[in-house]
Amino acid sequence: MSAYPKTTALMRRGAEFLGSEHAILCGAMSWVSERNLVSAISNAGGFGVIACGAMTPELLDAEIAGTRALTDKPFGVNLITMHPQLFDLIAVCAKHGVGHVVLAGGIPPKGSVEAIKAFGAKVIVFAPTLALAKKLLRSGGDALVIEGMEAGGHIGPVATSVLAQEFLPALADDYLVFVAGGIGRGEAMAGYLEMGAVGVQLGTRFACASESIAHPAFKQAFFRANARDAVASVQVDPRLPVIPVRALKNKGTEEFTAKQREVAQLLDEGKVEMGEAQLLIEHYWAGALRRAVIDGDVENGSLMAGQSVGMVSKEEPVADIIAEVLAESEAALSRR
Ligand SMILES: Cc1cc2nc3c(=O)[nH]c(=O)nc-3n(C[C@H](O)[C@H](O)[C@H](O)COP(=O)(O)O)c2cc1C
Repeated sequence: MSAYPKTTALMRRGAEFLGSEHAILCGAMSWVSERNLVSAISNAGGFGVIACGAMTPELLDAEIAGTRALTDKPFGVNLITMHPQLFDLIAVCAKHGVGHVVLAGGIPPKGSVEAIKAFGAKVIVFAPTLALAKKLLRSGGDALVIEGMEAGGHIGPVATSVLAQEFLPALADDYLVFVAGGIGRGEAMAGYLEMGAVGVQLGTRFACASESIAHPAFKQAFFRANARDAVASVQVDPRLPVIPVRALKNKGTEEFTAKQREVAQLLDEGKVEMGEAQLLIEHYWAGALRRAVIDGDVENGSLMAGQSVGMVSKEEPVADIIAEVLAESEAALSRR
């Protein structure tokens, strides 16, 4: 008998799909979601996801093997669709028999969903609109994550609360939908489960867990921050459409403005194509995030964080975080 029977019942389809005890994913966070955090999440009954980010196929190979050495529970791999070696990365996932691949950062390129399904893995997709969600789910996507603009990292323009109202009534009967963005406590999780979500994805809440290798200075910045400190980046040049990124305000936020001007000028001078320009921006983010997460440069690096950062006040083991949100959810559902 589960200690959280009402929550567990609402999460049943999601947990069965993931093969985990609870349908709580730790969203992939570049540099943060490596073997230590991912295995800790899965060992605690959640579902960890390796952030491949800009890794080479060789690095991903080592990371999957390293994670396997730390857990015998299922975990997933998050691949960014615009990665130039996407199909080589899929081959690495196939080699290891990864059970779930999350395709993030854009519409999956032709053949990618098929290549993942060919080795028997489940495909988890993101979609910014209901029409696209239906298309992706009909054409091979096994589950969907809807992610609102409260989230940390790259974001869309719509709030989680609105996406949930738009997507869940339309999709929840036929498809598996997980909700992400701004979930800090179990009461909010319970609300989305009641609306038809089969599970949730949290990032910010797990970023500073004891098992996270993020630099102590990065964690301190999270503990000090409030919701209003986690701001979305601003697009400075209309010709260069950059995906907004939510991060804690610092000097790095201003540097991104300068970076955009630099890339826009390269575009103007015909030195780069649009696709290449966007890749330059993504490389900038990967480098800036590394500076903050790994080197602890919280001034110039990128402190990607969601608005739920105000609810992160101390370092805790992931098992405690999971138990806390489950207990909050259960108490809320019991009061109904
Ligand atoms: C530091 C950080 C890095 C992230 N990196 C990625 C990434 O590489 N790929 C991705 O799909 N999502 C990334 N995300 C988004 C998370 O996977 C997750 O969906 C998000 O954090 C959920 O919203 P929340 O932060 O409000 O909990 C990142 C989030 C954070 C906070």
